[in-house]
Amino acid sequence: MKYGVIIHGGAWDIPDDAVLDHLQGVQEACDTASKSLREGKSSLDAVEAAISLMEHNPTFDAGRGSFVNQIGEVEMDAIIATEDFHFGSVCAVTNIANPIQLARLVMEKTNHHILVGRGANLFALEHGFKEVSPESLLIGRELERYYQIKGKKDFHPKDTFHRKPNGMGTVGALCIDLTGKIAAGVSTGGTPYKRVGRVGDTPIWGAGAYIDAHIGAVATGYGEDIIKVLLTKKAVEYAKREESLSSAAFKAIQDLEQISGLGGVIMLNEQEFGIDFNTPRMAFAFQVESNSMQVGINPEDRNRFKIHR
Ligand code: GLY
Repeated sequence: MKYGVIIHGGAWDIPDDAVLDHLQGVQEACDTASKSLREGKSSLDAVEAAISLMEHNPTFDAGRGSFVNQIGEVEMDAIIATEDFHFGSVCAVTNIANPIQLARLVMEKTNHHILVGRGANLFALEHGFKEVSPESLLIGRELERYYQIKGKKDFHPKDTFHRKPNGMGTVGALCIDLTGKIAAGVSTGGTPYKRVGRVGDTPIWGAGAYIDAHIGAVATGYGEDIIKVLLTKKAVEYAKREESLSSAAFKAIQDLEQISGLGGVIMLNEQEFGIDFNTPRMAFAFQVESNSMQVGINPEDRNRFKIHR
């Protein structure tokens, strides 16, 4: 079995001066996951390592550098999943450097799927997670954005995804290991100036991530729209009807477009990768074993690469 990795760094109108940071960020995450898999680690370990790295990278809306909510706090959501419908999610957690690691603990150490807010933070403390200061997650760029938005009467969080220069992206990863097992992970700070307690698509099974029949999908974009169409479940269901992953991803994004939704999806199975998005850009990287890594960000890049595994 060949191992493989696909990463996204968020679907939105990434301005030209942020392209390099995004490409570098997804490339580093892809490298990290590939290295784990090469060493014989599980797809779950590889996904956790890749997402943890991106949570530390302030280029992305996840972990350090996340958008802040209406009271100037960072509240984060994450999901991690493996096959057989095993998944763990955390919603609206604060003061945690790596929500993806907490989501994994929810999956492995509880008989629940989702922990929110205070409950998720208490669970983190119980398991020895170090509480980090709010300042360590909040960066100057986001504080500036917070004050700009606060002064605007007509701000809508959806503008973030298709109008420069409002954005930043959720991060996501899918890996398949040497035993053929698939894992998925997504992490986000949500949308800018969200209400306290707002939860988007990311930690919702079938919206932010889904794996079934050895097909994995993870999403990014405007969460309220993604939840409506259950984007990743749709994508996997299309693929189960023996469609190529490219065609399944395309159809799922068309469904999102039907409701004027904005976002992207990446997919993986034993044979292929699938990538689609309807935002101006989405940073992505993918690699099969030691073959050269492919990295893209523009709509035409989806077709430029041969995305079979
Ligand atoms: N897709 C990230 C969010 O809407 O929260």
